[in-house]
Amino acid sequence: MNFELSEEHIAVKEAARDFAQNVLKSGVIERDNLQKFPAEEIKLLGELGFMGMMVDPKYGGSGMDTISYVLAIEEISKVDASASVCMSVNNSLVAWGLEKFGTEAQKQHFLVPLAKGEKIGAFCLSEPEAGSDATSQQTTAIDMGDYYLLNGVKNWITNGSTASTYIVIAQTHKELGHKGINALIIERGMEGFIVGAKEDKLGIRGSDTHTLMFNDVKVPKENRIGEDGFGFTFAMKVLAGGRIGIAAQALGIAGGAFELALAYSKQRKAFGKEIYKHQAIAFKLADMATEIEAARLLVYSSALDKDAGRNYDQSSAMAKLYASKVAMEQTVEAVQIHGGYGFVKEYHVERMMRDAKITQIYEGTSEVQKIVISRGILK
Ligand code: CAA
Repeated sequence: MNFELSEEHIAVKEAARDFAQNVLKSGVIERDNLQKFPAEEIKLLGELGFMGMMVDPKYGGSGMDTISYVLAIEEISKVDASASVCMSVNNSLVAWGLEKFGTEAQKQHFLVPLAKGEKIGAFCLSEPEAGSDATSQQTTAIDMGDYYLLNGVKNWITNGSTASTYIVIAQTHKELGHKGINALIIERGMEGFIVGAKEDKLGIRGSDTHTLMFNDVKVPKENRIGEDGFGFTFAMKVLAGGRIGIAAQALGIAGGAFELALAYSKQRKAFGKEIYKHQAIAFKLADMATEIEAARLLVYSSALDKDAGRNYDQSSAMAKLYASKVAMEQTVEAVQIHGGYGFVKEYHVERMMRDAKITQIYEGTSEVQKIVISRGILK
């Protein structure tokens, strides 16, 4: 077993770290305050090849492995989890899904601009009445011969108003349950497609989260991904990879908060010495470092499963379950180490604590991850 990163991996990690520290960091507090999407920064990420990292270069991507992707997401998330969720959805849920299951025409038309970062993608599964219970889709895609008639509402959609390409999961044959669901590609500007209200969120406030409405949208048959009824399997497969991305995001949030807490503990003095010299703080730092390292091993191991062609349904659920718990718990500790300073925006860790919570909710709550893991081990 080899735990060493290759030279290429180290280069990707350093490039992402450099971007996060030198480009993203200066505006992250303001974007959080104003709920401002990092539009310019995402454009630059695209130019650097971070928006289609795992896509074959023949479709405009960077042709990298999942480990590289995880390293990049981790470094970006140390600074700006709003930028990293945009990146994660585009890479894992949209670009990867299109490359793996799309037709050649779909790849040429939709995947290439997404992989180059010229356009942004969104993945639309959640509904007002179908969150964790993803088989209960109320959005309908009625087969009208050469097109589908799409009607319904999707909630909490990341990149909701900034995307150009949307993969929408909808029910076509209700009597078939999850085997009657389709995944359809919708383009911005299609008649009857309305971008609704923006959510005012606790965390990842720079991320662009909207309700979407579909009123009699005519979707050409050639925009369906896979065979008729493949939509639920498609969603589950892209979500397994997506969970690696969110696990890496959680790992990055925890790691970013740890780096700040460590630095602060070396400069802040109390009771006559730097606070890291007090065992109360040193032990906190030791626990944080240990938990983050354990999460890192789970996340990298799941990425390795994917790169090696092994099943990663369970390992990605484990990685997300654990890394998101670590992110939540360790950002609270980072705030505690900062004392009163931790409670104000200038010191970043309060934002990280707010951002951490969503990693236990989106792309499947922690409870959903436990369903996936328990079914796997009880099989
Ligand atoms: N690959 C292939 N097939 C799969 C699969 C996988 N990974 N997982 C399940 N399936 C198949 C099953 O084999 C089953 O097929 P058969 O009946 O033919 O055997 C079928 O799908 C149904 O599976 P289940 O019976 O396990 O389905 P379930 O209704 O019990 O639900 C669940 C399972 C894991 C809870 C699923 O509903 C789920 O993942 N829910 C959470 C959805 C989610 O993550 N939403 C997040 C929205 S996206 C988002 O957050 C993006 C963002 O903005 C950041």
